[in-house]
Amino acid sequence: MRLLLAAILPLLLAVDVAAVKHEDFKECHQTSFCRRLRSIAARQEEAVANGTAFASPYSLGNPVATPGTQSAASWTFPLTSSLYPDISFNLRVDVLAQGDGIVRIRADEVDSASQWKRYNETAKWALVDAEPNLARSVDVQFAHVDGMTAIEYGPGPAQELMLEIVHSPLKITMKRDGMDQVVFNDRDLFHVEHYRAKQLDEGDEAEAEGTEAASSEDAAQAVMQAPKAEKIDRSWFEEDDKDAFEERWKKWTDTKPKGPEGFSLDFSFPNADHIYGLPEHASPLSLPSTKGEDAYYKEPYRLWNVDIFEYEADSPMALYGAVPLVHAHGKVNTVGVLNLVGSETWVDVTHQPEGVRTHWVSESGIVDFLILPGRRPVDLFEQYASLTGAAQMPPQFATAYHQCRWNYNTQAEVIEVQDEFDKADMPLDVTWLDIEYAEEHRYFDWDHKHFPEPKKMLDEVEAKGRKMVAIVDPHIKKTDSFRIYTDARDLDVLVKKADNSDFDGWCWTGSSVWVDFFNPKSWDWWTRMFSFNVWKESSKALFIWNDMNEPSVFDGPEITMPKDNIHDGGWEHRDVHNINGMMFHNQTQHAITVRDTPELRPFVLSRSFFAGSHRYGAVWIGDNLGTWDHLAGETAVFLSNSIAGISFVGSDVGGFFGNPTPELLVRWYQAGAFMPFFRAHAHIDTKRREPYLFEEPTRSYLRDALRLRYAMLPVWYNAFHAAATKGYPVIWPHYALFPEDEGGFAIDDQYYIGDSGVLFKPVVAEGAQESTVYLAADQPYYDYFHRKLYYASAKPRNITIATPLDQFPLLIEGGHIVPTRERVRRTSSLMWQDPFTLTVALGKDGSATGQLYLDDGETLAHTQGEFIHRRFSYTPTGKNGAGKLSSAAHVVYDGANAWAQKIAHVKVERIVILGHEAAPSSVTVAGEAVQFEYTKPVKGREPVPGKVVIKNPGIKVGADWEVVVAA
Ligand code: NOJ
Repeated sequence: MRLLLAAILPLLLAVDVAAVKHEDFKECHQTSFCRRLRSIAARQEEAVANGTAFASPYSLGNPVATPGTQSAASWTFPLTSSLYPDISFNLRVDVLAQGDGIVRIRADEVDSASQWKRYNETAKWALVDAEPNLARSVDVQFAHVDGMTAIEYGPGPAQELMLEIVHSPLKITMKRDGMDQVVFNDRDLFHVEHYRAKQLDEGDEAEAEGTEAASSEDAAQAVMQAPKAEKIDRSWFEEDDKDAFEERWKKWTDTKPKGPEGFSLDFSFPNADHIYGLPEHASPLSLPSTKGEDAYYKEPYRLWNVDIFEYEADSPMALYGAVPLVHAHGKVNTVGVLNLVGSETWVDVTHQPEGVRTHWVSESGIVDFLILPGRRPVDLFEQYASLTGAAQMPPQFATAYHQCRWNYNTQAEVIEVQDEFDKADMPLDVTWLDIEYAEEHRYFDWDHKHFPEPKKMLDEVEAKGRKMVAIVDPHIKKTDSFRIYTDARDLDVLVKKADNSDFDGWCWTGSSVWVDFFNPKSWDWWTRMFSFNVWKESSKALFIWNDMNEPSVFDGPEITMPKDNIHDGGWEHRDVHNINGMMFHNQTQHAITVRDTPELRPFVLSRSFFAGSHRYGAVWIGDNLGTWDHLAGETAVFLSNSIAGISFVGSDVGGFFGNPTPELLVRWYQAGAFMPFFRAHAHIDTKRREPYLFEEPTRSYLRDALRLRYAMLPVWYNAFHAAATKGYPVIWPHYALFPEDEGGFAIDDQYYIGDSGVLFKPVVAEGAQESTVYLAADQPYYDYFHRKLYYASAKPRNITIATPLDQFPLLIEGGHIVPTRERVRRTSSLMWQDPFTLTVALGKDGSATGQLYLDDGETLAHTQGEFIHRRFSYTPTGKNGAGKLSSAAHVVYDGANAWAQKIAHVKVERIVILGHEAAPSSVTVAGEAVQFEYTKPVKGREPVPGKVVIKNPGIKVGADWEVVVAA
């Protein structure tokens, strides 16, 4: 053990930041299924280049209604490959009711002589309903003639969507308005490796091949009367692979008992110019090509959740999470594909004059993908949420500032840190504890030498209105003196090795085991571990951080579990690897929810994620480096995660590794104040860098960033509410808000918070004295700090903003009303009755709208109608900004609900109207004059907007009212 730790620790603790160890992670050619399946594409490309025909060996037979379904929205087609006529597949097409026009396509090997079955449970974990509702037959028209099936469907009576299925060679096209949007098997790369016994020797194989080739044509003919597929050279689809049945890499051997079972999918998007998604990668948001002459990356995007040490800021290498979702976007249409696969997957992207092409290869599982029709990104967000659910409303504190470090080492230190924040007048909501709080890294068990009275500490923290988060990792120290280990072992819920004995490996805890959270037997037990009766030294002020859940196994292949490990149901780890982290996150979140009566909102941070993880809490992007290029690259990662649901996301502010200069730290705090999840964190070997430790002016700049976050918490809460109710991302990339503005499709270094109209761009270059911001709306844009006005312009344009170290681009797009709370508090829980400022940024037409959602920020009472949700509108009534600002209910809710009553006294203390051209003659509320100040606009090259500031208008934020501004 000592030897191993001695070998590993220097690697893990090194702060001298270098680069990722490429040799620890595989490239496609080093993993046998990827090598095999990707070479199909290479051969296809070669064939096309040589002018040789290349056609899919796959064809469909006549459709039958899917057995067991009563709806005329589900059909099953026999699917055969002319290469293996004895092997039968089924292809099932479902038209789903929810999400307006989603189609699901599944294919699996059937009637196989093999003892094996492909993993078919990804949908069970990713989707809210593993078998979503089928569309009612009335919405769907079906026609089948001569080897061609057409299914018309769609959200409305217009039947605007069509699935055109060509039976041989297989090709499925989703059309909208008669235009091809998604073409499945466009390049004939679809292939499913069937189960087979270990290879015959060469002579036998030649014989077998001859027989199969002869019968293949018969079979294809028998199945359908469609034109015969080209005779395919089998070697185009398969190649000898010494690793097909057992794969060695470095010192590890993957026993592969099922043999090869990979599959390959190709989707083309003829009307798309850009493709986004496939998180998590440190790549641009608009995914560049991985093949061809314009290839930006040499490797495909890899989805294989790993604990990657010192990852690169620009790379297609796998990171900690995986969502196999893409948005293919063009000026007219946006369409999505969600590929429900939890096994290792690599995706090639190529950009062609004819659109975007993708090729996906996965190691195991059934084929199960969904086509999300769009038509615009906002529709995709809703469609994706209809499948995978929306995020929960986070507790208020979770949207505020978190202070973490590896480690706060003692109880006294925890209290000291929060006292220092108070002394420095810096707000703070949450102090975090990394692994050193736990005796021998046995999570749950406090190290009493350093934390003698954890309950007392938690109570003291709570008394200040603050919370704590402690880490609970999935590796469990393998020692009989640890109750979590003995419980899990006795309950028989540990992940197993290929030989069915309990798997053990190395992690922070030394020799460790892992609970199999796919096993339902583990669920109640895990929930109990967090109950206050069992974990006596915890409290409702303590929340949880799930790290290392890819899972990270220090002595495993690619620092994770062997693929032939076994989970519940006999499934191999290879089948479920990318889903694994989400299972842990899910169960921990559940445990934190139910430990209180009545239940309170949970908060659990996870490093690993999969499609659907947004239902369970927040995510951060792992062990970033404290370097300018990491800071610069992160915005794109946040946006990419966000469009795939993983929108409660942030990075270690300051960078996990290294010691940022004061300038870099200031820029990171400014960026952090605009990350949905705002937490500072640092490696154990870094210098202390809590914001109160710095000299002026750094200290003030850091304080400003913190305070700005707190002032803008209402803006963030609105955005989180839209995420929880509509499935929208908390931060929006440009293409999603301006889907027709081609000039902005590749923009990934600035973003808007929800629908607030607030546009932010972090400054990410050392010494940057100015920054260029892209403005797309034909609206004036106002500097958030009222310093400047950028006139409306019919054409999108770049503007330059001065960015000395205390400044950065933060703009309000005209037409929006932004609610903020400007009182300085030490923590967000103390702000609940603070008054509001409403900033009305007048649009080009003199109008503006905005909203405010508020609830108690802590309980689940909001799900029972205890909230307020206001809509503010400024309507022009004459020239020079004359108009009425009014407040009304945004949605129907009972204005007498307990929360609305509790905050009935909360005021609007200030209204700022930006863009007012001339001094109003009066401002009145219910006929009574109220005080205001007017500042004239400055015209010319450095324009400043005219501004009306109304102080104490005497209105309540939750009430209906009207403020009349007369010209
Ligand atoms: C790895 C995590 O990414 C990091 O944030 C944490 O500090 C260490 N594990 C120790 O728990």
